[in-house]
Amino acid sequence: MDIKLNTERLKGFVDEKDFVKVSGQVEKAHDLLERRKGKGSEFTGWLDLPSKTADRDLDEYLKIGQAVRKDSDCLVSIGIGGSYVGIRASLEFLAAEQKLPVHYAGHNLSAGYLHQLLLKLRDQRVTLVVISKSGTTTEPALAFRILKKFMEEKYSGAELKKRIICITDPEEGALRSIAQNAGYRTFPINPDVGGRFSILTPVGLLPLAIAGIDVRALIQGAREAQKHCSVMDLKKNMAYRYAAARYFLYQQAKKIEVMSTFNQRLVFIAEWWKQLFGESEGKDGKGIFPASLNFTADLHSLGQLLQEGERNMFETFLLTDDPGQKLLIPEDDENLDNFNCVAGKDLNFVNQCAYEATAQAHVEGKVPNMTIHLPRFDARTLGQLYYFFEKSVAISGYLWDVNPFNQPGVEAYKRKMFALLGRR
Ligand code: PA5
Repeated sequence: MDIKLNTERLKGFVDEKDFVKVSGQVEKAHDLLERRKGKGSEFTGWLDLPSKTADRDLDEYLKIGQAVRKDSDCLVSIGIGGSYVGIRASLEFLAAEQKLPVHYAGHNLSAGYLHQLLLKLRDQRVTLVVISKSGTTTEPALAFRILKKFMEEKYSGAELKKRIICITDPEEGALRSIAQNAGYRTFPINPDVGGRFSILTPVGLLPLAIAGIDVRALIQGAREAQKHCSVMDLKKNMAYRYAAARYFLYQQAKKIEVMSTFNQRLVFIAEWWKQLFGESEGKDGKGIFPASLNFTADLHSLGQLLQEGERNMFETFLLTDDPGQKLLIPEDDENLDNFNCVAGKDLNFVNQCAYEATAQAHVEGKVPNMTIHLPRFDARTLGQLYYFFEKSVAISGYLWDVNPFNQPGVEAYKRKMFALLGRR
């Protein structure tokens, strides 16, 4: 496993002896999860998904990807929550690998946004992927209705059928019926995997393969993490160590976890993480509020609150050790800004100093922090990261005795929405 978790800056809040103290509870959670005996165990299909994913399926997605790219200028990906955020997070993380532009729809109810998108698509060759596990969620259903009409005006017959792909429940739901009636291609979402755990199912794999991402490497990384994260050892298993650290911090009234990033390409990974942790832990009156900050911009606004506000937070830095792109800072003859001290250095060096300075300042300000180090921006690392967080939140949920795999609160909003809209 290439990603690393550094917990040194938790000292005084969570120490080695605490990890030893909690290991019995973690072992219990581990047993419940691995034997599929814990709460919500019918939704633990993600657990061995990487090792069970067949290479021939990955090859099929890659083949479809090649064919779509040959006759499309862009892909429109319709979906919300677990059917949206992971795809976007992956593509921003892997921006350098992307071969086809991807537009998003169905993740809001903004008429202005969709109108602008339709204008943009007017002269383009478009392929549409619509993703909804339930097939009934309001936002993607309405975006699909509007975009389907647009596609029907642009294409017909076999061409139209070729350009619309549906990813949904294998047996039921409105989207499945629409696809069946119209003859669109469909791909099933594993019934034992919830939306926020679905990035390594066709939900994520197919759109990513169409965009040109090496999904074989993504799954390879996830397989490595699956192996690493199945060991019941809090010194070795980073997913369990992360869950245990958060458990202690929450007991010390650290009720907010801030994920801080220093690279634009990590901003949406934090969004994905927020859904995974917020929806999994936030129930039965419990839950750490997952927030995210985009540094260094946010150091000049919310940095103040972190340094000196209410001490109810801890911080997790997500850092890429080799950000890839280098940019040298030029020498300036006049040196009026006094920054010739870094002339000739890579801008990434300054960013690294910003991380060090922030981590030190925040821990001195009584915001304990830990760092997840990613070696680089590639698909294998990303696969490791996704599985690491999934395994961690599952253990965390069991440590807190909540069902980490349901989302009754989200369903409550959906039901109220249907009632207001008069939908049966
Ligand atoms: O965690 C979840 O499952 C939800 O947040 C869903 O991802 C979101 O509501 C979209 O649901 P669906 O894919 O069924 O349209």
